[in-house]
Amino acid sequence: MAFDYGSIDRIIERWSSTPSATIPILKDIQEQYRHLPPEIFPYLAKKLGVSEARVYGVATFYKTFSLKPKGRFIIKVCDGTACHVLKAGPLLTSLRNKLGLSEIQDTTADFLFTLETVSCLGVCALAPVLSVNERVYPAMTPEKVSALLKELHTEAQTTPICLKTNAYTTDGGSIRLPQVW
Ligand code: FES
Repeated sequence: MAFDYGSIDRIIERWSSTPSATIPILKDIQEQYRHLPPEIFPYLAKKLGVSEARVYGVATFYKTFSLKPKGRFIIKVCDGTACHVLKAGPLLTSLRNKLGLSEIQDTTADFLFTLETVSCLGVCALAPVLSVNERVYPAMTPEKVSALLKELHTEAQTTPICLKTNAYTTDGGSIRLPQVW
């Protein structure tokens, strides 16, 4: 399938075709594609009037950007001090086992889940916590993880993604873009 440069053009139009717009443009592209596809680098460089190396440099400098496709649901397990003490480790192990993931493979083959760790989600009083896209789940246990995964599978079935736009469709026919961070 040919890459849809029209969607990149619409994102550039939303900002501006100047080098200072590189970060917000990359952020929107990542929201749409859940990673930064390789096709965008030469295209953006030309559109923004900068070198490809510069666009690539920005994309690889910030941890928030990913060159690898991520799952629809990005699960971030907090392994900061408060969460670690309250057994974030077993939580992570439980998720890895249930999803068939490892330290090396962090995304499921069906691109439904990506599993990451973070150093603090800023809600230490609720430890141990994890987040799924923008949602935070407090006082998690390996048992609660099973229920959560079931809930996310159901959500995936009831709000399928439009393959063309990578957006979620809802029952009412409206569309909302997937949340990545
Ligand atoms: S250490 Fe986990 S939220 Fe702060």
